[in-house]
Amino acid sequence: MDKIKIIGGNPLFGKVYISGAKNTALPIICASLLTDEPVTLYNLPILSDITSLNLLLKQIGTQIEGRQEELNGHITQTFTYCTAKPTSLIAPYDYVRKMRASYYVLGPLLTKYRHVELSLPGGCAIGARPMDIHLNSLEQMGASIEIKNGYVVADIKDRLKGAHIVFHSASVGATCNILMAATLAEGDTIIENAAKEPEIADLINLLRKMGADIEGINTSTLTIHGVDKLHGVEHEIINDRIEAGSYAVAAAITHGCVELVNANPEYLQCPMDILQKTGVSVKKTENGLIIDAQNTKLQGIDIYTDYYPGFPTDLQAQFMALMCVADGAAMVTESIWENRFMHVPELIRMGANINVHGHASAIVRGVPKLSGAPVMSTDLRASFALILAGLAAEGETIVNRVYHLDRGYERLEEKFKLIGANIERIKESD
Ligand code: EPZ
Repeated sequence: MDKIKIIGGNPLFGKVYISGAKNTALPIICASLLTDEPVTLYNLPILSDITSLNLLLKQIGTQIEGRQEELNGHITQTFTYCTAKPTSLIAPYDYVRKMRASYYVLGPLLTKYRHVELSLPGGCAIGARPMDIHLNSLEQMGASIEIKNGYVVADIKDRLKGAHIVFHSASVGATCNILMAATLAEGDTIIENAAKEPEIADLINLLRKMGADIEGINTSTLTIHGVDKLHGVEHEIINDRIEAGSYAVAAAITHGCVELVNANPEYLQCPMDILQKTGVSVKKTENGLIIDAQNTKLQGIDIYTDYYPGFPTDLQAQFMALMCVADGAAMVTESIWENRFMHVPELIRMGANINVHGHASAIVRGVPKLSGAPVMSTDLRASFALILAGLAAEGETIVNRVYHLDRGYERLEEKFKLIGANIERIKESD
Protein backbone atom coordinates (compact mmCIF):
# COMPACT_ATOMS: atom_id res chain seq x y z
CA MET A 1 0.00 0.00 0.00
CA ASP A 2 1.26 3.50 -0.87
CA LYS A 3 2.48 5.90 1.81
CA ILE A 4 3.04 9.65 1.80
CA LYS A 5 6.23 11.12 3.18
CA ILE A 6 6.29 14.74 4.31
CA ILE A 7 9.11 16.84 5.68
CA GLY A 8 7.38 19.60 7.60
CA GLY A 9 8.23 23.24 8.02
CA ASN A 10 7.77 24.79 4.56
CA PRO A 11 5.25 27.66 4.39
CA LEU A 12 3.05 27.09 1.32
CA PHE A 13 2.78 29.77 -1.38
CA GLY A 14 1.06 29.92 -4.75
CA LYS A 15 -2.14 28.70 -6.36
CA VAL A 16 -4.16 25.52 -5.95
CA TYR A 17 -6.78 24.70 -8.59
CA ILE A 18 -9.85 23.31 -6.90
CA SER A 19 -11.35 20.30 -8.67
CA GLY A 20 -14.96 19.27 -9.29
CA ALA A 21 -16.86 18.19 -6.19
CA LYS A 22 -16.72 14.46 -5.43
CA ASN A 23 -19.90 14.48 -3.37
CA THR A 24 -21.81 16.22 -6.18
CA ALA A 25 -20.37 14.09 -8.94
CA LEU A 26 -21.43 10.80 -7.33
CA PRO A 27 -25.24 11.40 -7.20
CA ILE A 28 -25.17 13.30 -10.49
CA ILE A 29 -23.50 10.39 -12.31
CA CYS A 30 -26.28 8.13 -10.96
CA ALA A 31 -28.93 10.63 -12.08
CA SER A 32 -27.86 9.77 -15.65
CA LEU A 33 -29.68 6.44 -15.09
CA LEU A 34 -33.00 8.36 -15.14
CA THR A 35 -32.87 8.80 -18.92
CA ASP A 36 -31.99 6.58 -21.91
CA GLU A 37 -30.38 9.61 -23.59
CA PRO A 38 -26.72 10.66 -23.17
CA VAL A 39 -25.75 12.80 -20.17
CA THR A 40 -22.43 14.63 -20.48
CA LEU A 41 -20.77 15.76 -17.26
CA TYR A 42 -17.91 18.29 -17.22
CA ASN A 43 -15.48 19.08 -14.41
CA LEU A 44 -15.58 15.58 -12.92
CA PRO A 45 -12.75 15.09 -10.43
CA ILE A 46 -10.08 12.49 -11.26
CA LEU A 47 -10.58 10.22 -8.25
CA SER A 48 -10.77 6.53 -7.49
CA ASP A 49 -14.38 6.96 -6.24
CA ILE A 50 -15.41 8.12 -9.73
CA THR A 51 -13.61 5.15 -11.30
CA SER A 52 -15.37 2.78 -8.87
CA LEU A 53 -18.80 4.25 -9.65
CA ASN A 54 -18.11 4.08 -13.39
CA LEU A 55 -17.32 0.35 -13.01
CA LEU A 56 -20.65 -0.18 -11.25
CA LEU A 57 -22.54 1.69 -13.97
CA LYS A 58 -20.75 -0.33 -16.66
CA GLN A 59 -21.95 -3.55 -15.06
CA ILE A 60 -25.50 -2.10 -15.05
CA GLY A 61 -25.09 -1.62 -18.81
CA THR A 62 -24.21 2.08 -19.09
CA GLN A 63 -22.02 3.09 -22.04
CA ILE A 64 -19.35 5.49 -20.79
CA GLU A 65 -17.00 7.61 -22.87
CA GLY A 66 -14.55 10.03 -21.36
CA ARG A 67 -11.69 12.40 -21.94
CA GLN A 68 -9.28 14.54 -19.95
CA GLU A 69 -8.29 18.02 -21.08
CA GLU A 70 -5.94 20.69 -19.88
CA LEU A 71 -7.59 24.03 -19.20
CA ASN A 72 -5.40 26.92 -17.93
CA GLY A 73 -2.85 24.51 -16.51
CA HIS A 74 -5.54 22.50 -14.76
CA ILE A 75 -6.65 19.05 -15.93
CA THR A 76 -10.40 18.47 -16.14
CA GLN A 77 -12.32 15.30 -16.87
CA THR A 78 -15.52 14.85 -18.91
CA PHE A 79 -17.62 11.70 -19.20
CA THR A 80 -20.72 10.94 -21.25
CA TYR A 81 -23.07 8.33 -19.75
CA CYS A 82 -25.76 6.59 -21.75
CA THR A 83 -27.99 3.87 -20.30
CA ALA A 84 -30.19 3.02 -23.27
CA LYS A 85 -30.86 -0.51 -22.02
CA PRO A 86 -29.62 -1.74 -18.64
CA THR A 87 -28.32 -5.29 -18.58
CA SER A 88 -28.50 -5.65 -14.78
CA LEU A 89 -30.46 -3.97 -11.99
CA ILE A 90 -28.10 -5.22 -9.29
CA ALA A 91 -25.48 -3.27 -7.34
CA PRO A 92 -23.31 -6.13 -6.03
CA TYR A 93 -21.50 -6.27 -2.68
CA ASP A 94 -18.04 -5.99 -4.22
CA TYR A 95 -18.85 -2.58 -5.70
CA VAL A 96 -20.84 -1.17 -2.78
CA ARG A 97 -18.34 -2.22 -0.12
CA LYS A 98 -15.63 -0.27 -1.97
CA MET A 99 -17.77 2.82 -2.25
CA ARG A 100 -20.92 3.45 -0.19
CA ALA A 101 -22.17 6.15 -2.56
CA SER A 102 -23.04 3.28 -4.93
CA TYR A 103 -26.36 3.47 -3.07
CA TYR A 104 -27.25 6.41 -5.31
CA VAL A 105 -28.36 3.90 -7.97
CA LEU A 106 -31.28 2.90 -5.72
CA GLY A 107 -33.68 5.80 -6.41
CA PRO A 108 -32.98 6.13 -10.16
CA LEU A 109 -33.14 2.39 -11.01
CA LEU A 110 -36.28 1.79 -8.94
CA THR A 111 -38.24 4.72 -10.33
CA LYS A 112 -37.25 4.04 -13.96
CA TYR A 113 -37.00 0.24 -14.12
CA ARG A 114 -39.23 -0.76 -11.15
CA HIS A 115 -36.78 -3.17 -9.59
CA VAL A 116 -33.37 -2.88 -7.96
CA GLU A 117 -31.13 -5.05 -5.78
CA LEU A 118 -28.58 -3.09 -3.78
CA SER A 119 -26.08 -4.64 -1.42
CA LEU A 120 -26.48 -2.88 1.95
CA PRO A 121 -23.32 -0.83 2.46
CA GLY A 122 -23.03 -1.37 6.24
CA GLY A 123 -21.13 0.95 8.58
CA CYS A 124 -17.69 2.48 8.11
CA ALA A 125 -14.91 4.09 10.14
CA ILE A 126 -16.93 7.25 10.89
CA GLY A 127 -20.20 5.65 12.03
CA ALA A 128 -23.04 3.16 11.58
CA ARG A 129 -24.40 4.99 8.53
CA PRO A 130 -27.99 3.67 8.44
CA MET A 131 -30.21 3.82 5.33
CA ASP A 132 -33.58 3.87 7.10
CA ILE A 133 -34.58 7.29 5.71
CA HIS A 134 -33.94 6.18 2.10
CA LEU A 135 -35.88 2.93 2.54
CA ASN A 136 -38.81 4.26 4.62
CA SER A 137 -39.32 7.09 2.14
CA LEU A 138 -39.42 4.72 -0.84
CA GLU A 139 -41.93 2.55 1.04
CA GLN A 140 -44.06 5.65 1.63
CA MET A 141 -43.95 6.12 -2.15
CA GLY A 142 -45.37 2.62 -2.67
CA ALA A 143 -42.23 0.48 -3.06
CA SER A 144 -42.11 -2.97 -1.53
CA ILE A 145 -38.75 -3.43 0.17
CA GLU A 146 -37.18 -6.58 1.60
CA ILE A 147 -33.75 -7.22 3.04
CA LYS A 148 -32.50 -10.55 1.64
CA ASN A 149 -28.98 -11.98 2.00
CA GLY A 150 -27.50 -8.58 2.74
CA TYR A 151 -29.30 -6.91 -0.17
CA VAL A 152 -32.11 -4.37 -0.31
CA VAL A 153 -34.55 -5.80 -2.85
CA ALA A 154 -36.98 -3.09 -3.95
CA ASP A 155 -39.92 -3.42 -6.35
CA ILE A 156 -42.82 -1.37 -7.58
CA LYS A 157 -45.76 -2.65 -9.64
CA ASP A 158 -46.38 0.53 -11.54
CA ARG A 159 -44.82 3.97 -10.96
CA LEU A 160 -43.73 5.22 -7.56
CA LYS A 161 -46.45 7.44 -6.08
CA GLY A 162 -45.85 10.97 -4.79
CA ALA A 163 -45.93 11.23 -0.99
CA HIS A 164 -45.48 13.74 1.82
CA ILE A 165 -42.25 12.67 3.54
CA VAL A 166 -40.68 14.13 6.69
CA PHE A 167 -37.02 13.15 7.22
CA HIS A 168 -35.97 12.61 10.85
CA SER A 169 -32.45 13.88 9.93
CA ALA A 170 -31.49 16.19 7.07
CA SER A 171 -29.62 13.38 5.28
CA VAL A 172 -27.66 14.36 2.16
CA GLY A 173 -27.80 10.84 0.72
CA ALA A 174 -31.52 10.34 1.34
CA THR A 175 -32.35 13.79 -0.08
CA CYS A 176 -30.49 12.89 -3.32
CA ASN A 177 -31.98 9.41 -3.59
CA ILE A 178 -35.59 10.48 -2.93
CA LEU A 179 -35.28 13.56 -5.15
CA MET A 180 -34.12 11.36 -8.04
CA ALA A 181 -36.84 8.76 -7.36
CA ALA A 182 -39.58 11.41 -7.15
CA THR A 183 -38.75 13.02 -10.52
CA LEU A 184 -40.41 10.12 -12.37
CA ALA A 185 -43.08 9.31 -9.74
CA GLU A 186 -46.79 9.79 -10.31
CA GLY A 187 -47.98 13.00 -8.64
CA ASP A 188 -46.28 15.31 -6.18
CA THR A 189 -43.68 14.46 -3.55
CA ILE A 190 -42.91 16.83 -0.71
CA ILE A 191 -39.69 16.27 1.26
CA GLU A 192 -39.55 18.11 4.58
CA ASN A 193 -36.30 18.52 6.51
CA ALA A 194 -34.35 17.94 3.28
CA ALA A 195 -30.59 18.60 3.25
CA LYS A 196 -29.60 22.02 1.86
CA GLU A 197 -25.95 21.32 1.00
CA PRO A 198 -24.70 22.93 -2.27
CA GLU A 199 -24.33 19.38 -3.65
CA ILE A 200 -28.15 19.04 -3.49
CA ALA A 201 -28.66 22.33 -5.35
CA ASP A 202 -26.31 21.14 -8.11
CA LEU A 203 -28.25 17.88 -8.41
CA ILE A 204 -31.53 19.84 -8.60
CA ASN A 205 -30.09 22.08 -11.33
CA LEU A 206 -29.10 19.01 -13.35
CA LEU A 207 -32.48 17.30 -12.84
CA ARG A 208 -34.32 20.48 -13.90
CA LYS A 209 -32.24 20.64 -17.08
CA MET A 210 -33.24 17.01 -17.70
CA GLY A 211 -36.91 18.06 -17.52
CA ALA A 212 -37.72 17.49 -13.84
CA ASP A 213 -40.14 19.84 -12.09
CA ILE A 214 -38.69 20.72 -8.66
CA GLU A 215 -39.43 23.64 -6.33
CA GLY A 216 -37.67 24.74 -3.15
CA ILE A 217 -33.99 24.71 -4.21
CA ASN A 218 -31.71 25.74 -1.28
CA THR A 219 -34.53 25.27 1.23
CA SER A 220 -35.41 22.39 3.54
CA THR A 221 -38.78 21.75 1.85
CA LEU A 222 -38.58 20.34 -1.66
CA THR A 223 -41.62 19.77 -3.86
CA ILE A 224 -41.19 17.48 -6.83
CA HIS A 225 -43.97 17.28 -9.43
CA GLY A 226 -43.42 13.91 -11.13
CA VAL A 227 -42.99 13.86 -14.93
CA ASP A 228 -43.26 10.97 -17.43
CA LYS A 229 -39.79 11.20 -18.94
CA LEU A 230 -36.42 12.89 -18.50
CA HIS A 231 -33.99 13.66 -21.31
CA GLY A 232 -30.26 13.90 -21.95
CA VAL A 233 -28.29 16.96 -20.92
CA GLU A 234 -24.85 18.54 -20.56
CA HIS A 235 -23.85 19.78 -17.11
CA GLU A 236 -20.79 21.17 -15.36
CA ILE A 237 -20.22 19.94 -11.80
CA ILE A 238 -19.60 22.61 -9.12
CA ASN A 239 -16.20 22.83 -7.45
CA ASP A 240 -15.32 20.95 -4.29
CA ARG A 241 -15.90 23.13 -1.21
CA ILE A 242 -14.31 20.52 1.06
CA GLU A 243 -11.14 20.31 -1.04
CA ALA A 244 -11.00 24.13 -1.00
CA GLY A 245 -11.48 24.23 2.78
CA SER A 246 -8.79 21.58 3.23
CA TYR A 247 -6.17 23.59 1.26
CA ALA A 248 -7.23 26.75 3.11
CA VAL A 249 -6.15 25.03 6.33
CA ALA A 250 -2.89 23.96 4.63
CA ALA A 251 -2.08 27.64 3.97
CA ALA A 252 -3.03 28.55 7.56
CA ILE A 253 -1.17 25.77 9.36
CA THR A 254 2.08 26.44 7.46
CA HIS A 255 1.78 30.26 7.81
CA GLY A 256 1.79 30.58 4.04
CA CYS A 257 -0.33 32.41 1.46
CA VAL A 258 -2.33 30.37 -1.07
CA GLU A 259 -4.93 31.30 -3.66
CA LEU A 260 -7.72 28.72 -4.04
CA VAL A 261 -8.55 29.10 -7.71
CA ASN A 262 -12.19 28.22 -8.54
CA ALA A 263 -13.22 28.01 -4.86
CA ASN A 264 -16.76 29.31 -4.35
CA PRO A 265 -16.76 31.59 -1.24
CA GLU A 266 -20.56 31.30 -0.96
CA TYR A 267 -20.28 27.58 -0.08
CA LEU A 268 -17.54 28.16 2.49
CA GLN A 269 -18.90 30.98 4.58
CA CYS A 270 -19.01 29.22 7.95
CA PRO A 271 -15.55 27.53 7.82
CA MET A 272 -13.94 30.69 6.43
CA ASP A 273 -15.51 32.76 9.26
CA ILE A 274 -13.89 30.34 11.72
CA LEU A 275 -10.57 30.60 9.88
CA GLN A 276 -10.72 34.39 10.12
CA LYS A 277 -11.40 34.14 13.85
CA THR A 278 -8.15 32.16 14.22
CA GLY A 279 -6.41 35.27 12.89
CA VAL A 280 -5.94 34.21 9.25
CA SER A 281 -6.80 36.64 6.45
CA VAL A 282 -9.41 35.28 4.00
CA LYS A 283 -10.18 37.44 0.97
CA LYS A 284 -12.26 36.95 -2.15
CA THR A 285 -10.40 37.28 -5.45
CA GLU A 286 -11.62 37.34 -9.03
CA ASN A 287 -10.99 33.59 -9.23
CA GLY A 288 -11.76 32.33 -5.75
CA LEU A 289 -10.22 32.97 -2.35
CA ILE A 290 -6.83 33.93 -1.02
CA ILE A 291 -5.76 32.61 2.36
CA ASP A 292 -2.92 34.54 3.99
CA ALA A 293 -1.45 33.38 7.31
CA GLN A 294 2.01 34.96 7.07
CA ASN A 295 2.89 36.48 10.44
CA THR A 296 -0.41 35.19 11.90
CA LYS A 297 -0.45 34.15 15.55
CA LEU A 298 -3.09 31.41 15.36
CA GLN A 299 -5.79 31.50 18.00
CA GLY A 300 -7.82 28.43 19.08
CA ILE A 301 -11.54 28.69 18.25
CA ASP A 302 -14.42 26.32 19.13
CA ILE A 303 -15.98 24.32 16.31
CA TYR A 304 -19.40 22.69 16.19
CA THR A 305 -20.20 20.61 13.10
CA ASP A 306 -23.71 20.94 11.71
CA TYR A 307 -25.82 20.55 8.60
CA TYR A 308 -25.18 23.14 5.87
CA PRO A 309 -24.87 26.12 6.16
CA GLY A 310 -23.27 25.12 9.49
CA PHE A 311 -19.66 23.98 9.84
CA PRO A 312 -19.15 20.86 7.64
CA THR A 313 -18.26 17.61 9.39
CA ASP A 314 -16.01 16.91 6.38
CA LEU A 315 -13.70 19.76 7.53
CA GLN A 316 -13.70 18.90 11.24
CA ALA A 317 -10.51 16.79 11.22
CA GLN A 318 -8.57 19.37 9.17
CA PHE A 319 -9.57 22.26 11.48
CA MET A 320 -8.73 20.13 14.52
CA ALA A 321 -5.20 19.74 13.13
CA LEU A 322 -5.03 23.54 12.92
CA MET A 323 -6.23 23.96 16.52
CA CYS A 324 -3.42 21.63 17.63
CA VAL A 325 -0.88 24.40 16.88
CA ALA A 326 -3.04 27.43 17.77
CA ASP A 327 -2.80 29.44 20.99
CA GLY A 328 -5.20 28.46 23.77
CA ALA A 329 -7.92 25.82 23.90
CA ALA A 330 -10.56 24.90 21.31
CA MET A 331 -13.60 22.71 21.90
CA VAL A 332 -14.41 20.59 18.83
CA THR A 333 -17.91 19.09 18.80
CA GLU A 334 -18.94 16.55 16.16
CA SER A 335 -22.73 16.42 15.81
CA ILE A 336 -23.18 14.48 12.55
CA TRP A 337 -21.15 11.26 12.90
CA GLU A 338 -20.79 9.17 16.06
CA ASN A 339 -17.18 8.10 15.47
CA ARG A 340 -15.32 10.90 13.74
CA PHE A 341 -12.35 11.40 16.05
CA MET A 342 -10.21 8.59 14.67
CA HIS A 343 -7.49 11.11 13.78
CA VAL A 344 -7.10 12.10 17.46
CA PRO A 345 -4.80 9.25 18.60
CA GLU A 346 -2.62 9.83 15.53
CA LEU A 347 -2.39 13.60 16.19
CA ILE A 348 -1.48 12.82 19.81
CA ARG A 349 1.36 10.64 18.51
CA MET A 350 2.65 13.78 16.80
CA GLY A 351 2.63 15.71 20.08
CA ALA A 352 -0.88 17.22 20.06
CA ASN A 353 -2.67 17.80 23.35
CA ILE A 354 -6.25 16.56 22.85
CA ASN A 355 -8.77 15.12 25.31
CA VAL A 356 -11.83 13.42 23.90
CA HIS A 357 -14.99 13.55 26.03
CA GLY A 358 -17.55 10.89 25.11
CA HIS A 359 -17.84 10.44 21.35
CA ALA A 360 -18.89 13.98 20.46
CA SER A 361 -16.48 16.47 22.06
CA ALA A 362 -12.77 17.03 22.20
CA ILE A 363 -10.72 19.74 23.89
CA VAL A 364 -7.63 20.70 21.91
CA ARG A 365 -4.99 22.66 23.79
CA GLY A 366 -2.54 24.19 21.35
CA VAL A 367 1.15 23.23 21.53
CA PRO A 368 4.03 25.31 20.09
CA LYS A 369 5.16 22.51 17.70
CA LEU A 370 4.15 19.08 16.48
CA SER A 371 6.82 16.52 15.67
CA GLY A 372 6.82 14.19 12.67
CA ALA A 373 5.88 10.52 13.18
CA PRO A 374 4.61 7.51 11.25
CA VAL A 375 0.79 7.70 11.36
CA MET A 376 -2.16 5.71 10.03
CA SER A 377 -5.05 7.03 7.89
CA THR A 378 -8.52 5.90 8.92
CA ASP A 379 -10.80 7.77 6.54
CA LEU A 380 -10.57 10.38 3.82
CA ARG A 381 -10.74 13.59 5.88
CA ALA A 382 -8.75 12.21 8.82
CA SER A 383 -5.98 11.36 6.32
CA PHE A 384 -5.85 14.94 5.07
CA ALA A 385 -5.69 16.16 8.68
CA LEU A 386 -2.58 14.00 9.20
CA ILE A 387 -1.00 15.47 6.05
CA LEU A 388 -1.68 18.95 7.46
CA ALA A 389 -0.14 18.03 10.80
CA GLY A 390 2.89 16.64 8.92
CA LEU A 391 3.29 19.88 6.94
CA ALA A 392 3.38 21.88 10.18
CA ALA A 393 5.51 19.41 12.17
CA GLU A 394 9.24 19.32 12.70
CA GLY A 395 10.88 16.43 10.84
CA GLU A 396 9.47 13.54 8.84
CA THR A 397 5.91 12.23 8.86
CA ILE A 398 4.87 9.08 7.03
CA VAL A 399 1.13 8.75 6.42
CA ASN A 400 0.22 5.10 5.84
CA ARG A 401 -2.81 3.71 3.96
CA VAL A 402 -3.18 6.65 1.61
CA TYR A 403 -5.76 4.92 -0.58
CA HIS A 404 -8.31 6.87 1.47
CA LEU A 405 -6.86 10.11 0.09
CA ASP A 406 -7.00 8.88 -3.51
CA ARG A 407 -10.77 8.48 -3.11
CA GLY A 408 -11.34 12.17 -2.50
CA TYR A 409 -8.34 14.43 -3.22
CA GLU A 410 -7.32 14.77 -6.86
CA ARG A 411 -3.55 14.66 -7.59
CA LEU A 412 -2.79 15.56 -3.99
CA GLU A 413 1.02 15.39 -3.99
CA GLU A 414 1.18 17.29 -7.30
CA LYS A 415 -1.02 20.11 -5.98
CA PHE A 416 0.98 20.31 -2.75
CA LYS A 417 4.35 20.24 -4.53
CA LEU A 418 3.28 23.16 -6.74
CA ILE A 419 2.83 25.31 -3.62
CA GLY A 420 6.15 24.30 -2.12
CA ALA A 421 5.42 21.33 0.14
CA ASN A 422 8.12 18.74 0.67
CA ILE A 423 5.90 15.73 -0.01
CA GLU A 424 6.26 12.50 -1.94
CA ARG A 425 4.43 9.24 -2.47
CA ILE A 426 6.23 6.05 -1.63
CA LYS A 427 4.82 3.33 -3.85
CA GLU A 428 4.65 -0.05 -2.20
CA SER A 429 3.07 -3.30 -3.22
CA ASP A 430 1.00 -5.15 -0.57
C1 EPZ B 1 -22.67 12.64 2.86
O1 EPZ B 1 -22.79 11.35 3.45
C2 EPZ B 1 -21.22 12.77 2.44
N1 EPZ B 1 -20.91 11.70 1.49
C3 EPZ B 1 -20.32 12.69 3.65
O2 EPZ B 1 -18.99 12.95 3.22
C4 EPZ B 1 -20.73 13.76 4.67
O3 EPZ B 1 -19.97 13.60 5.85
C5 EPZ B 1 -22.21 13.65 5.00
O4 EPZ B 1 -23.00 13.67 3.78
C6 EPZ B 1 -22.71 14.76 5.90
O5 EPZ B 1 -22.49 16.00 5.30
C7 EPZ B 1 -21.25 11.82 0.22
O6 EPZ B 1 -21.85 12.80 -0.19
C8 EPZ B 1 -20.86 10.70 -0.69
P1 EPZ B 1 -26.04 11.75 5.60
P2 EPZ B 1 -24.23 10.70 3.70
O7 EPZ B 1 -27.02 10.78 5.06
O8 EPZ B 1 -25.15 11.19 2.66
C9 EPZ B 1 -27.99 10.01 9.62
C10 EPZ B 1 -16.71 12.53 2.89
O9 EPZ B 1 -15.74 12.59 3.68
N2 EPZ B 1 -28.81 9.14 8.73
O10 EPZ B 1 -26.25 13.22 5.38
O11 EPZ B 1 -24.04 9.25 3.87
C11 EPZ B 1 -26.53 9.58 9.62
O12 EPZ B 1 -26.30 8.51 10.51
C12 EPZ B 1 -18.01 11.89 3.30
O13 EPZ B 1 -16.65 12.96 1.74
C13 EPZ B 1 -29.77 8.35 9.28
O14 EPZ B 1 -30.00 8.33 10.51
O15 EPZ B 1 -24.58 11.36 5.10
C14 EPZ B 1 -25.81 10.86 10.01
O16 EPZ B 1 -25.84 10.99 11.41
C15 EPZ B 1 -17.94 11.19 4.62
N3 EPZ B 1 -30.51 7.55 8.44
C16 EPZ B 1 -26.71 11.97 9.40
O17 EPZ B 1 -27.97 11.34 9.13
C17 EPZ B 1 -30.33 7.56 7.10
O18 EPZ B 1 -31.04 6.83 6.39
C18 EPZ B 1 -26.17 12.55 8.11
O19 EPZ B 1 -25.91 11.51 7.17
C19 EPZ B 1 -29.32 8.37 6.55
C20 EPZ B 1 -28.57 9.16 7.38
